[in-house]
Formats: sequence, C-alpha cells, structure tokens
Amino acid sequence: MSNHKQIRLGTILHGANGNMSAWRHPEAVVDASINFEFAKNVALQAERAKFDFVFVADGLYINEKSIPHFLNRFEPITLLSALASVTKNIGLVGTVSTSYSEPFTIARQFASLDHLSGGRAGWNVVTTPLEGTAKNHTRKQHPEHSQRYEIADEYLQVAKGLWDSWGEGAFVRNKETGQFFERSKLHTLNHKGKHFEVAGPLNVERSPQDRPILFQAGASGAGRALAAKHADAIFTHQATLEEAQAFYLDVKQQVIKNGRDADDLLIFQGIGVLIGDSAEDVERQYLETAALVTIDDALNYLGRFFEHHDFSQYELDAPFPELGTLGENSFKSGTDEIKRKAKAENLTLRQVALQAATPRPPFAGTVEEVADQLELWVKEEAADGFIIAGATPKTLDTFVEKVVPLLQQRGLYRTEYPGTTLRASFGLKRPENQFEQSEKEHLHAVE
Ligand SMILES: Cc1cc2nc3c(=O)[nH]c(=O)nc-3n(C[C@H](O)[C@H](O)[C@H](O)COP(=O)(O)O)c2cc1C
Repeated sequence: MSNHKQIRLGTILHGANGNMSAWRHPEAVVDASINFEFAKNVALQAERAKFDFVFVADGLYINEKSIPHFLNRFEPITLLSALASVTKNIGLVGTVSTSYSEPFTIARQFASLDHLSGGRAGWNVVTTPLEGTAKNHTRKQHPEHSQRYEIADEYLQVAKGLWDSWGEGAFVRNKETGQFFERSKLHTLNHKGKHFEVAGPLNVERSPQDRPILFQAGASGAGRALAAKHADAIFTHQATLEEAQAFYLDVKQQVIKNGRDADDLLIFQGIGVLIGDSAEDVERQYLETAALVTIDDALNYLGRFFEHHDFSQYELDAPFPELGTLGENSFKSGTDEIKRKAKAENLTLRQVALQAATPRPPFAGTVEEVADQLELWVKEEAADGFIIAGATPKTLDTFVEKVVPLLQQRGLYRTEYPGTTLRASFGLKRPENQFEQSEKEHLHAVE
C-alpha cells in the first residue's frame, strides 16, 4: 500500500438520475427508482469495485412538479434492508429526517439494519428542507431552520444513548442457569429534554458497528456544527476546489474543537461525473442529456428549492428575480448560493434555471482527467472521498471499469475491503458505550 492518502468512494442510488428528464435518456431504465433489480445491480457493481457505500437520499413531500425520481421510489431503510441480504461488504447509507420521526423508532431501525447487514448500516441525518412535509405529518408548521438543527442535536443524543442500551455481550442466553441477559450490562437512558422524552432501553442489542455510521447532509453553519459534534461523515457539495477546501478546513477545525480527531469525520463531496474519449465526446454527451430538459422542467426544478415557488410568473430573460428571504427556511445553504451566484454573475432566470436543472458535471473529461481531479481534490484537502453520480446511465459503468483501476494503479484506492463493516472501510475507531465509560471513570474515581 502506498503512502498516498486513500480516496474513498460511494455512489448514489437515485433511479434513472436526479435530473428532471434523465429518465428520457435513450439508455435510461425508466422505472429504475422503484426497480429492485436495478438497485441491486448498482450495489453489486459498486461492491465489485470496492466502494465504501451506496447512498440513498430521500424526501417526504412531493407534488406534481417534483422530479420524476421523487414521485415514485423506495423508502430508504426498506430498500437497504433488502440490499443487505444480496451484498456482503458494501456500506448501506440511508437518509432519514430528524424533524419528522421518533428517535426510538429510527434508532431501532438502524440498529436492526446494522445487524441484518453484519455492520454496514449508515444513517444520513437530515433536517428536511421542504415546508410541505408538515402537511404529510399532521403538523401545523414546518419547524424553522435553527429549530430543526436544535431538534436534530437532541435527537442524536437520544439515539446514541439508545444504541448504548446494552453492553457488549449482554445477552448470555445460558440455558443451564436460565440467565438470558447480564443485568449490569443493561443501561436505561431516561432522557428528558426540551424536545424528547425517551426512557429506553432499546429493544435491540449492541450492533456490529456499536452504532451505525452517522452521515450528515446540510452545509449551513448550524449543519456543520451538528456534523462536527455528532457525525462520522458528511455528504456535501461545493462547486469549486477552493470552496471545498474552505469547507473542509472549517469542518475539520470544528471537529477538533469538539475534542475529536480530524480523521474522526470524513468529508464526502457529492459530484456529477461525465467520462468521454475526448473533450468533444464529453460535450456531446453533456448536450445530449441537457437537451432532454425543457425550460418548464428547469423552472419547476428550481422552484422546489424555494418552497415550490412558481418561477413561471417572471420574465425568463430578465435578471434573476429578487426573492427576499424566500428559501431560507428550506434548502438554506443551497438557496443562499443560488441567489449569491445569480447576483455576482448577473444571470437571467433562464440561465439560473438551466444551470440548476442541467449543471455541467464538474468532474468531466477523459478517464485520466477524471482520475487526476479526484486525486487533486483529496491531495489538496478538499475531500476525503466522493459520492459519485453518473451524468448518463452508462457513466458509472465506465467509472468502475476504467477510473477505479487507474486509481488502484496509482496506489490511491483499495483493491480489497479491509474488513466486513462500513466502520472498518472508513478506518474509524469504535465508540465507547457512554454508560460503561462513565462506570469506568466512576470506578477509577473511587479507587
Ligand atoms: C449535499 C446535501 C444533501 C442533502 N440531502 C438531503 C436529502 O437526501 N433529504 C433531505 O430531506 N434533505 C437533504 N438535504 C437537506 C438538509 O438536510 C437541510 O435540511 C437543508 O439543506 C437545510 O440545511 P443547510 O442550510 O444546513 O444546508 C441535503 C443537503 C445537502 C447540502
């Protein structure tokens, strides 16, 4: 193994693609979002290429303007549970919102997934940007951005406490003596906080990874702070190397301020990838996918980020409209960036909508060029790894067949899994049981 910093890879399972019209691509599988064989084949392909994980994003509110993939797709934990039984090594990361679920239920489900998969479960913690979600959950109001993060923080404290309910080896199941479990290894949380009251214990024993790997997606100040405190990994997206470096530095410094090691949290850039034989081939492929998107599709796509705002009311070729605070309570970090860029570059509504709906994949080029970019971003501390989204239905195939072997040749990417768990793939340490930790400290203090 070389001394180079290793690149880590995941891929996103998002049907025919996140793009508004990707399902119309000549090579697209039209029902991919709700087709288990499709998801299974992607997961197996990623596993053959020794990827760290497959990743399932999610949302809890749709309307007729939503991306086709959002209209009809699997619930993440259910899909990952099915994938657990047909894969062996690859991590299984699913998105669940802390704003619209109960910590006991979700801690239990991810602990179960960790058992089912032999230690490969990961939870992408999100706070839910879409206001309409309240209407699907018997709520009068969608919680505000800062409140969502406050809830998420307490939620994760509760979930971590529940995952520590049982010490290792608590279930002795001794038929001779009749002892089913060791009483001293049962820990009851008794949490009473501002947003949650959860007694515990959890009705699932300690899982193979001690607890699932925690991802966080959300790039605002509050999102970064939550990740620095609780998460093992971040799913983020920055447009340029410089922005990604600034994000990386900021988050790693916050991790250290939280008393953790910088390497305790891995930063994954979600990247669009397009691979071609030449610059002309890349451009041809890009134009082929971009041409599938109509301007109406693009306006609808853009509108979703701004609480499903109706952009068809504005002049297409006039400067991007002044939107005031619209978007701040939904995809805050994303909408802030769209507004900033539109102003800085003096863009029209048409340009903003098309750039949002059919962005040029930032990691585009020949096999060598794409490998060079990945290498550069990791070397220059802009990322610890990447979540790959192929720009065309065949991009992941090319990536796995050509880019992965090249990265392996360069000593930048593994040729075997280091273990059987996602925690082992990530090289992360095992968390201590908070109850046993304090017992140890207590004993120490008494001595
Ligand atoms: C890269 C990235 C991926 C995200 N993925 C999801 C997702 O799959 N589901 C979801 O409900 N929210 C997702 N979010 C939204 C965040 O959880 C959050 O609610 C929203 O972005 C506002 O937080 P922020 O301003 O901290 O980014 C994602 C955000 C980012 C930046």
